[in-house]
Amino acid sequence: MRYRIAVLPGDGIGPEVTGQATRVLAAAGRRFGFEFCFQEALIGGIAYDATGSPLPRATLDLCRSSDAVLLGAVGGPRWDTLPVHLRPEAGALLPLRKELNVYANLRPAVVFPALAHASTLKPEVVAGLDIVVVRELTGGLYFGEKRREEIPGGQRVVETLVYTTGEIQRVARRAFELARRRRKKLTSVDKANVLESSRLWREVVSELAREYPDVELNHMLVDNCAMQLVRNPRQFDVLLTENLFGDILSDEAAQLTGSLGMLPSASLGDGVALYEPVHGSAPDIAGKQLANPIAAILSGALMLRHSFGQEEAALAIERAVAAVLDQGYRTADIMEPGKCRVTTVEMGRLIAGMVERGEPV
Ligand code: NAD
Ligand code: IPM
Ligand code: MN
Repeated sequence: MRYRIAVLPGDGIGPEVTGQATRVLAAAGRRFGFEFCFQEALIGGIAYDATGSPLPRATLDLCRSSDAVLLGAVGGPRWDTLPVHLRPEAGALLPLRKELNVYANLRPAVVFPALAHASTLKPEVVAGLDIVVVRELTGGLYFGEKRREEIPGGQRVVETLVYTTGEIQRVARRAFELARRRRKKLTSVDKANVLESSRLWREVVSELAREYPDVELNHMLVDNCAMQLVRNPRQFDVLLTENLFGDILSDEAAQLTGSLGMLPSASLGDGVALYEPVHGSAPDIAGKQLANPIAAILSGALMLRHSFGQEEAALAIERAVAAVLDQGYRTADIMEPGKCRVTTVEMGRLIAGMVERGEPV
């Protein structure tokens, strides 16, 4: 078996972390008997600098014709003042998600045993945490109408939030299916006390729940959910929410695991899927070998699981990450006294070695 992967390293720490993710995927291939063909393409600020477009046609074509896409991160202060359609986020990342129609974004937040003390929250609050945020990814405020007009005394902006029954149903179905394979608990998060879109969201999710009697569904308002996530995050199993709420809650969930550098994601639709760490391009640490590559490496594991059905290989990567952390190796973001600090590349090498040999290094 040979998988063709479009690799889009992007900006800032993107290339540093995707370099380690592909190294670990290749190691998994050698151990479990399959091969990868990694083809790189430009995206984000670096693509704009080289071609004048943050999402060149060739990049989109490569993604569409690949078996899966691995993305690093895009954006940075250098490109923040460009016209919106040329910026790495609005001009590349969002259109890529829309083009691939990857409407369901799975963001698992798992506290590895060795990192229970790495979170800024008390270990007794986060130890053993294993939740997944299912974020709607191709609708809502991100993709609504955006308008700015002059009015006497200033300006007026219009930003619309659109959801259809179908858009809610398809992402909710993914969340129910996922919950069914896990602890069978789904919390749908909205702001139904204020937003009409949230009221439709609640109705559609409640209606769909009738098809999943084995899954316990509850609804929670997003402000309460943000608080519950730091008060008692283990009450949750699968969290389902719309695009903007999911963006915010998943960064919050990331910090429960010790660092944003630990959180992977899978963006799934009905065709080619996109895998990317939840974090951004981290311009503050880019080029210094300080980035934690684990979020990108775990995104590779999600690719093996969701796109290729290689469950054993996915588990091998997840176990290798746990084992390397157990041995005391830490990148700067999760460093604690008495542990062994390693660079981005060293962390990748340790995890790849463990995956390939299937035993402690
Ligand atoms: P960020 O996620 O890049 O960084 C937030 C903080 O977390 C920083 O202190 C950073 O150093 C740290 N961090 C992030 N990833 C890390 C890792 N792997 N290892 C260690 N530390 C890590 O968010 P930001 O600073 O708000 O945004 C920077 C740029 O990235 C912006 O241009 C933003 O639009 C973009 N961004 C892109 C994506 C993406 O491409 N998917 C996601 C989020 C933000
Ligand atoms: C993420 C990022 C993006 C988002 C930005 C860079 C557009 O924050 O993937 O979480 O908001 O979706
Ligand atoms: Mn985000």
